[in-house]
Amino acid sequence: MRLNLKIWRQAAPDAAGRLVDYVAGDVSPDMSFLEMLDVVNEGLVSSGQDAIAFDSDCREGICGMCSLVVNGVPHGPDRGTTVCQLHMRRFKDGDTVTIEPWRARAIPVVKDLVVDRSAFDRIITAGGYVSVNIGGAPDGNTIPIAKETSETAMDSAACIGCGACVAACKNASAHLFMSAKISHLALLPQGQLERRRRVVAMIEQADAEGFGSCSNEGECEAVCPKEIPISNIARMTREYVKAMAARGK
Ligand code: SF4
Ligand code: FES
Repeated sequence: MRLNLKIWRQAAPDAAGRLVDYVAGDVSPDMSFLEMLDVVNEGLVSSGQDAIAFDSDCREGICGMCSLVVNGVPHGPDRGTTVCQLHMRRFKDGDTVTIEPWRARAIPVVKDLVVDRSAFDRIITAGGYVSVNIGGAPDGNTIPIAKETSETAMDSAACIGCGACVAACKNASAHLFMSAKISHLALLPQGQLERRRRVVAMIEQADAEGFGSCSNEGECEAVCPKEIPISNIARMTREYVKAMAARGK
């Protein structure tokens, strides 16, 4: 296949960026999207040009590093899939494909398609720790947790912190990301001790980082590669209201 690419190039955080046209020739339908970009970069480097900067690590949907908006959709056209799992067979010979970075004030562009997601790390840090009793190792199954509850908690723990939810949201809200973390711990007995402090601290940190609020648009859920449900945001809101009520606010 031969594809026409329009790729966002931006030399530095404060530099002006623009879409630059490239042609990717000889693209195999079996290539992953990132392998296609690797081949484009090999061509650029061999002709003495600056390679296109983009993030990736595991390339199998686990780490949350890849962060491309493909034809206007974070992670591209496949539901429940990271862009590193997207394959070129999804496109047709002669297609034009636009590739841009996540765009949100709180996760700014570092270079080209690479963004700084350290705001997510600071939200997680604000959430803090989980207190555990460090006495003797407990016997297995001494803390019974209903199957449905443990499954829901683990589904929430599947969030890989990629930031696609923020990129898709017109408010640049981090609510789906935060609500996944909060739901994971709020549902389990191990998360109870800091439950109220955690939700308030994480939401306050997100506000301080410049993320927007949630207006229930649902774009976050639609693009989330781990299919984190928006119902988590309702749980986070309930957690927040209860925590503030307990403070008398
Ligand atoms: S909620 Fe989904 S889209 Fe948002 S950071 Fe987690 S995995 Fe990515
Ligand atoms: S590179 Fe790890 S999830 Fe895409």
